[in-house]
Amino acid sequence: MNSYILGIESSCDDTSAAVVTNNVLLSNVIANQDIHKNFGGVVPEYASRAHQINIVPVIEDALQKANVQKKQLSAIAFTRGPGLLGSLLVGTSFAKAMALALNIPLVEVDHLEAHILSHFILEKDTQKSVPKFPYLCLIVSGGHTQIVLVKSFSSFEIIGKTIDDAAGEAFDKAAKILGLPYPGGQMIDENAKRGNPLKFSFPEPRIAELNFSFSGLKTSFLYFIRDHLRDNPDFIPENLTDLCASIQHTIVAILVKKLKMASLQTGISQISISGGVSANSALRSTLLAEQAAMNWDLFLPKAVFSTDNAAMVAVAGYYKFLHKDFANQHSTPYTRSKML
Ligand code: KG4
Ligand code: ZN
Repeated sequence: MNSYILGIESSCDDTSAAVVTNNVLLSNVIANQDIHKNFGGVVPEYASRAHQINIVPVIEDALQKANVQKKQLSAIAFTRGPGLLGSLLVGTSFAKAMALALNIPLVEVDHLEAHILSHFILEKDTQKSVPKFPYLCLIVSGGHTQIVLVKSFSSFEIIGKTIDDAAGEAFDKAAKILGLPYPGGQMIDENAKRGNPLKFSFPEPRIAELNFSFSGLKTSFLYFIRDHLRDNPDFIPENLTDLCASIQHTIVAILVKKLKMASLQTGISQISISGGVSANSALRSTLLAEQAAMNWDLFLPKAVFSTDNAAMVAVAGYYKFLHKDFANQHSTPYTRSKML
């Protein structure tokens, strides 16, 4: 029998709702919050308020686009954490109330688990291959940079992680230094397409094993720009595309090097990436270029499933629903990942 799962994602600054039938996506609605652009970063208080305003219309829109009635729903999956507490509270409380009102099961999903399982989102009338277990997933987002060994739909092991900033933060901070609006990752990517990635070089960190560090790179980029601005106040506009291409090249090189190491160490050739930074065109093209030599089966999510979305929550929720892995009305949000 087909199941219909409503997924709700509200961990940071995007309010999203999606409907799946089994693991096939019927709708995925995302309301972005532009207000944060004025502040150069997410303001938690504004994020919670915007979620509160957006959540009802976003869910109604998702149900309507999927052509599914509330009474047809089999379960409600929601992001329990990690994320911003006020933002998570909106999605969690709404999911609990809706599941109670409809008398259907509630499924809690970890945001990182959702990013990892985003590769299993199927779309109607489209063929797609999915990773085979065990596979490696490089999660690269605004809050996380981890290499995860994915053993099954419910068994994950972190084998490498950042010891300070996340890769998305490195993109966003570099963008801020260059005067680009928040979130800057996508702007860096766009500008970099017209720049020379080898024009400027920045030191890559020496971090043991499969771990990452991005805070030193951020500081050296800041000092590099500051020193050049002393001699030439127009240094940034005169070199913007090359600066974007060069800092992106360095971040991508760090990520790809560790992912290759992880593949060689584990002997795993099923390789995937997920999270907002996985939308980065240089990261994708570099991995595609490595694919043949590394003998990889490479899984790159569509851009819309890279950044935060409820489709991945609904699909991750579907696999828990199959195993009757239900939450209850006592479920409360957590700000740090409990699962990974
Ligand atoms: O997964 P996500 O939407 O939210 C978190 O869970 O953090 O990731 C957001 C991050 C931001 O840092 C944003 O700048 C980055 O993903 N990002 C990109 C690109 N698109 C989004 N970074 C580099 N290149 C992109 N094309
Ligand atoms: Zn995310």
